[in-house]
Amino acid sequence: MKYRQSLKVLVVEDNLIDRRILESMLLETSNSTSLLKSSDSLAGALQLMSQYSFDVVILDLNLPDSQGENTLLKLNRQFPSVAVVINTGAYEDEVGIETLSFGAQDFLVKGKYNAYILNKALHYAIERKRLEAELVNAYRKVKEAQNQLIQSEKLKVVGTLASGVAHEVKNPLATLLYGIAYLSQNFSERDQNVDSVIQNMKQAITKANDIVTDLLNFASLTSLEKKKENIDNVIRNALNLVRHEFSRNHITVVQKIEDTLPQVMVDKNRIEQVIVNLILNAVHAMPDGGEITVRAYSRVLSEDLEDMPQLRRDEFKPGETIVILAVEDSGCGIPVDKIGQIFDPFFTTRRGEGGVGLGLSISKNIMDIHDGCIFVENKQNGGVRATLIFKVDTVKGGVLNGQEENLNYR
Ligand SMILES: Nc1ncnc2c1ncn2[C@@H]1O[C@H](COP(=O)(O)OP(=O)(O)OP(=O)(O)O)[C@@H](O)[C@H]1O
Ligand SMILES: [Mg+2]
Repeated sequence: MKYRQSLKVLVVEDNLIDRRILESMLLETSNSTSLLKSSDSLAGALQLMSQYSFDVVILDLNLPDSQGENTLLKLNRQFPSVAVVINTGAYEDEVGIETLSFGAQDFLVKGKYNAYILNKALHYAIERKRLEAELVNAYRKVKEAQNQLIQSEKLKVVGTLASGVAHEVKNPLATLLYGIAYLSQNFSERDQNVDSVIQNMKQAITKANDIVTDLLNFASLTSLEKKKENIDNVIRNALNLVRHEFSRNHITVVQKIEDTLPQVMVDKNRIEQVIVNLILNAVHAMPDGGEITVRAYSRVLSEDLEDMPQLRRDEFKPGETIVILAVEDSGCGIPVDKIGQIFDPFFTTRRGEGGVGLGLSISKNIMDIHDGCIFVENKQNGGVRATLIFKVDTVKGGVLNGQEENLNYR
């Protein structure tokens, strides 16, 4: 039988005779093996696998440095995308079948195969591995689509409810404000207490009015005024809006912004709002002070999108230029059991301190209609990183041409 693909094979076998038999079978049909390496231990195999990219590994489970299914598990953990065919002893059919449930694609029984069967098993194993990966990928896509649907349904419901309630609440608030203005002008016996009570009432009403305005914006967030913008200007404006919070909370801000970032097509007021939300979240997470780092840089996405694993592969393509904006803090981080809820409208752990729980859900909404992404994750060494991704080359409603527009790509 002739196969289209010629294989890169690793033989892991500590019995010299078994190894030689395998090697000679693999070389028998010389055009079907393009790379052949061997090892007599698991450590040696892992070392070779980090040097070469093999299509398939023929693995003896019982090696001097690892025995039984553990050998397969360790190999799979480090190199999950390589197909594995187990080479079992003469009377170990059951062991062979068991290994399939631990992640092997096939098994061979020593002494019961020839070059033809071996070759066929290796090709089938690779194909099975490829299909397995496709299946996993398809499942992930379905899950993502389902989550997005749930999220957007939630937003729709909140939007509809919010705009109804917000209109109803705005009028009484306006009446209250007029009333307070009237009282403060016409109180005949003024004392300091009356003044401060009136001041507090005014502040409370203004806060309530701001929340209601947020809700209305949230509900009507369907169109944007997009223009080509320098993202560093947008960052600077956002930082200026919240600068007073930094000294008050003993927070230092470090900016790491690449000199020549490509322009992005955004509604700058909306993106300013997103950055302000992220910075305020960072400030709130550091009541005893700390450091905020704002990074902005551009990247051309690599062939496998490995540098940005969170990006949805059907929306972002290799070779595409993106601008990345990250806000990092050195604060308390997000508890693992809460991280799945932070984009939910009205989810907040700061209700007592005036949190409404709309900051991130509004930000997500804004990024969605920019065709961009937002991620929030705990950093390994503590604190949180919130990341915004903007597409550079293509945007909904128009194509930016790098050369014509004289944009600076790197
Ligand atoms: N940088 C961060 N560090 C720690 N927790 C965070 C951070 N950012 C967000 N969170 C968590 O996510 C929750 C939701 O954030 P979100 O911005 O949506 O609402 P909020 O900040 O509580 O209220 P607001 O509507 O005023 O923004 C927060 O209450 C907090 O628990
Ligand atoms: Mg917030």
